[in-house]
Amino acid sequence: LSAAETERGRTIVNCLRILAHTSQIDPELFVQCVEVAGRDVGPGFISELEQDQGEFAKMLTHVTGCKSALEIGSRYGCSIQRIAAQMEPGSLVVAVDLPYADGAGVNAEEKLRENIRKIAERGPTHLFLGDSHATSLVEAVRNLGPFDFVFIDGDHSYEGVKADWENYGPMGKVVAFHDIINNAGCFRLWNEVKKAGYRTVEYTESMWLGIGIVFKD
Ligand SMILES: C[S@@+](CC[C@H](N)C(=O)[O-])C[C@H]1O[C@@H](n2cnc3c(N)ncnc32)[C@H](O)[C@@H]1O
Repeated sequence: LSAAETERGRTIVNCLRILAHTSQIDPELFVQCVEVAGRDVGPGFISELEQDQGEFAKMLTHVTGCKSALEIGSRYGCSIQRIAAQMEPGSLVVAVDLPYADGAGVNAEEKLRENIRKIAERGPTHLFLGDSHATSLVEAVRNLGPFDFVFIDGDHSYEGVKADWENYGPMGKVVAFHDIINNAGCFRLWNEVKKAGYRTVEYTESMWLGIGIVFKD
């Protein structure tokens, strides 16, 4: 693919994601559109587009020096791979996601397992495939904690992200949330967290995704 074609594909998929995030597109139609874009530009390309690169890079500055990290909602494993790469070899990495296959020609679980295998070459790594809200899963993750850094990017409903914050927030010294701008559930929870008086920072230059970080000090 030429750079121009890649850029065009990236723009199309980003536009679709904006519509999906603002609930202005039916999820079924979104998946169909991504399938078509995926045929044009390749599924691996789409799997790279879960984060705004600028916001994510700023979040990674808070991962530097961390010795352990937990991610709730890993999809293909792209974000946890970058988080892991930011830490020293030998650091502990824990990823949680539902067994998941999407409609864009990608077997997400297979790709996630593949990325987790790569992370495991650098240090102790655990993958939990299950509902992050399940008591047994919370307990299993707690047994591996506490964590220097926790990234919450799983169930985006208000109740879901609130449960993840209540269950996993206490396990992290620094806790980051994704999608704090345009996702109604994450936006609402993030504003509650801010009002609770924690020291926080927001990275929102994409104007449509947004990362919020809570420091527990
Ligand atoms: C936006 S994606 C995560 C993207 C990933 N963090 C990245 O940037 O590469 C959200 C993920 O959360 C997972 N998820 C949603 N609800 C969940 C739940 N209750 N338990 C565990 N994972 C969940 C979905 O399967 C999906 O893979």
